[in-house]
Amino acid sequence: MMREAFFVALLCGLSALPVAGETARGQALEAWARIYEVVSHPRCANCHTGPSDRPMWSGPSYRETRPHGMNIRAGESRIGAETLPCRTCHITTETGGNAAAHMAPQVADAWRLAPVEAHWFGQTSAYICTRLRDPDLNGGRTAGEIADHLGHDVILHWAWAPGGGREPAPYDLERHIADIRIWGDAGQPCPE
Ligand code: HEC
Ligand code: HEC
Repeated sequence: MMREAFFVALLCGLSALPVAGETARGQALEAWARIYEVVSHPRCANCHTGPSDRPMWSGPSYRETRPHGMNIRAGESRIGAETLPCRTCHITTETGGNAAAHMAPQVADAWRLAPVEAHWFGQTSAYICTRLRDPDLNGGRTAGEIADHLGHDVILHWAWAPGGGREPAPYDLERHIADIRIWGDAGQPCPE
């Protein structure tokens, strides 16, 4: 009896091996689908506008999707140094200042546009995925390093608690970091 049970367990274990790899990949693609919901959300994508140096105003609280009002340009500096600096309105404050609707969001870091390579606004899931896993396009980071970076980024804390009637990014920071790790541990698979 004992021996039969042992062989049954052994056979099940062996046949489970390839299945386990498939499961990890399936779970990683599910994790990626959630990651995409986050990175394509207005609270993230409005700053991740790629080659355009214009931040976007989008999401239900803005009613219509359009470039940032007042002809704001981030320039090559990404902080508007060439024209009107972001910090003129998006003041850096430890406490944040996002209570009132339609006020400029303020966080405990210099408000600025994301790097050109981190191009997410209006892009597909596959496009963002293949960019985010490419060290040449993601600031030279492994998935683990992206997860660590996200844990320290105070702009993200704002994105999940934006105030002023804005819709927060979906899920939460902990879920997002866990998803980046699940995706990374399975080799960063991307949808077709
Ligand atoms: C003259 C003031 C002013 C300057 C300068 C300015 N902004 Fe803004 N920004 C605002 C205001 C006001 C809002 C909110 C508008 C609203 O909610 O209707 C805003 C909103 C935003 C949003 C949308 C945030 C969200 O809700 O998703 C982004 C992104 C943004 N600004 C980026 C920038 C960047 C990057 C710069 C510098 C290149 C900059 N802004 C410079 C006033 C400014
Ligand atoms: C106020 C503008 C702004 C908002 C809003 C914003 N980001 Fe960013 N993001 C940046 C900037 C600036 C960098 C570059 C900072 C750095 O590398 O240290 C960056 C870099 C990143 C990176 C590193 C990847 C790369 O290719 O450089 C990730 C990942 C990221 N952001 C995720 C997010 C997520 C997720 C959200 C929403 C929950 C978000 N960001 C919202 C400005 C923003």
